[in-house]
Amino acid sequence: MKKRKILVTSALPYANGSIHLGHLVEYIQTDIWVRFQRMRGHDIYYVCADDTHGTPIMLRAEKEGITPEALIARVHKEHLADFTGFNIHFDNYYTTHSEETRYFSENIYQKLKAAWLISVRSIEQLYDPSKNIFLPDRYVKGECPKCGAKDQYSDSCEVCGAAYAPTELKDPYSSVSGAKPIKKSSEHYFFNLSDNRCIDFLRKWTREADHLQPEAANKMREWLGEAGENKLSDWDISRDAPYFGFEIPGAPGKYFYVWLDAPIGYMGSFKNYCEKNNIDFDEFWRKDSATELYHFIGKDILYFHALFWPAMLEHSNYRTPTKIFAHGFLTVNGEKMSKSRGTFITAESYLQQQLNPEWLRYYFAAKLNGTLEDIDLNLEDFIARVNSDLVGKFVNIASRCAGFINKRFQGKLVDGEQYQLMRTVIDERFSSWRPGKIEQAFEDRDFSAAIRQVMKFADAANEMIHELAPWEIAKDPQRSCELQRHCSLGIQLFYLLSCYLKPILPKTVEQIETFLNCEPLMWPVLPDGKPVSDLLLPAGHCINPYQHLMTRIDTKQIEALVVANQQGLPPAADAFSRVRHGQKQQHAVASIADTVSIDDFSKIDLRIARIVNAEQVTGADKLLKLTLDIGAEQRTVFAGIKSAYEPEQLKGRFTVMVANLAPRKMKFGVSEGMVLAAGGGGKELFILSPDDGAQPGMRVT
Ligand code: 2FM
Ligand code: ZN
Repeated sequence: MKKRKILVTSALPYANGSIHLGHLVEYIQTDIWVRFQRMRGHDIYYVCADDTHGTPIMLRAEKEGITPEALIARVHKEHLADFTGFNIHFDNYYTTHSEETRYFSENIYQKLKAAWLISVRSIEQLYDPSKNIFLPDRYVKGECPKCGAKDQYSDSCEVCGAAYAPTELKDPYSSVSGAKPIKKSSEHYFFNLSDNRCIDFLRKWTREADHLQPEAANKMREWLGEAGENKLSDWDISRDAPYFGFEIPGAPGKYFYVWLDAPIGYMGSFKNYCEKNNIDFDEFWRKDSATELYHFIGKDILYFHALFWPAMLEHSNYRTPTKIFAHGFLTVNGEKMSKSRGTFITAESYLQQQLNPEWLRYYFAAKLNGTLEDIDLNLEDFIARVNSDLVGKFVNIASRCAGFINKRFQGKLVDGEQYQLMRTVIDERFSSWRPGKIEQAFEDRDFSAAIRQVMKFADAANEMIHELAPWEIAKDPQRSCELQRHCSLGIQLFYLLSCYLKPILPKTVEQIETFLNCEPLMWPVLPDGKPVSDLLLPAGHCINPYQHLMTRIDTKQIEALVVANQQGLPPAADAFSRVRHGQKQQHAVASIADTVSIDDFSKIDLRIARIVNAEQVTGADKLLKLTLDIGAEQRTVFAGIKSAYEPEQLKGRFTVMVANLAPRKMKFGVSEGMVLAAGGGGKELFILSPDDGAQPGMRVT
């Protein structure tokens, strides 16, 4: 097989938010594919970076009172820790705020300019006169022109669902400062996508050579229109100062829009890696490169990757991507991830709850099929599937056979005639089985099909072991030879399964390599006409003592994960949106949650509590530690109310707590319930108090 040279990327996450399970679908998918190719012996590099530029990052840093550089440095560490925790291995995890990315951004821009593909014209935009910044649409809010709801975004109303233009919004205000935006003109730089050279190229590129999945190609055709039509607008690639990004050469006060330098960050990260590792960057990026380039992305950013990016590369004399692999969104229990339901699960919380990352890798793999379809993490199914497939079918094989080999045969698998006999039995049972199907499914990113094949093999292996019943044979000392043969067979089949699962379960298989006492497992290739037993460990191979490989998921662990991600209070509203023009602002009223039955409600045990003690928590920004008397016992609760209360104000007060919430392990200790409070956060938090006469421990019904 010819050795391929492959460069792979995943989308660069923004440097102002945490990694959550939705992100992980992509990084896990990419990491599995890269590990699979590496196991086959190809030269493959996987690079990524934080996407660090733009207005939201600049404003976030300002809000935290730090520089954007300090913010992106902190988030970089957090992101890398999350990825490492999920066994996602990048060859380089870099940042777009780098000299390499600056170099390629300028270089590509200059080449586009030299090709007359950059134009400059004045446009009018909303401007915040108190902050002196142009306002991206998401920072403009106002009254819905249809239903009058306050504090709606500039494109659609969350209350009545109406969609409208930013100019239709009534009484608009900047959610950054509260000021009324004005319209202001400034010069912007455009990449002329509507130029015929771009259109002609994109029409060809999006149709040719399977660059895109069929669904994605159709979408692009819609966006491009039919031959003769010109549906693409020029792309505004500049933003005015103040902006955290790269200044455009020869255009003081103008910066590259974050989406211009984000994909260029793929090149920046790889260049940084090449310099450190003596790899020829140009071999991968020159126009006639024979190497392969793949971008894994979410379907929401196809426009940037399938139109803007190839057009930029083509017209600046670089190679274009071999393929763009887009995936769908993640839902949890069939619904959009939700903070109030606790299904907006961060990578960090999953790891903090000590859940095994390989469980999630396996479950996502079992759902991913290489298309743009959304995938659902059904939490009950997650538990059932992992427990049944990984623990019940896979690990079980080793745990049933290893003990006998270790105790009775000093870890030695059969050799000589017995080995030949074992091979014959395996070849007979698996005569029609070909591993090529698994390999093809991995290559096509149809991991769900690969897992179906692997689990079919695991079922057959378990059936064989069940029939051979070594635990019965072990009772008869005369049958020791048979016992060694049958257990060796089990271990050999387990070895093969481990090879196929290694891209998905890298850490578990690392432990298995120690147990099997073998070199890092490579992809087993079976030439046509050869028997399956050609793939096995050699005769007389010795294994190490078996150590437990994987525990079952306990439902309680998942419940605790959901509780840990549940945000009891509504999301903190923008601090500035409440008071503007000196008026008292009406609060946006959150819509009423789904109806529940009285039975559902009565499951929540609310109790009157007396706050016996309240104290600061060293190192916590938001929490106070409360000691609550609820009649029969005292509880410790960590409440996120520090922004609104001094401990002294609380001592001796009566309030209401949820007394039967599962205890939640937090960084500072275990929280044994929750106190009830209203309000959006910050200074606007109001804990509840009962009327005079209520006593600690009384149930609230
Ligand atoms: O959508 C996002 O999260 C972007 N930060 C992805 C950038 S991908 C690439 F172009 F850098
Ligand atoms: Zn409305």
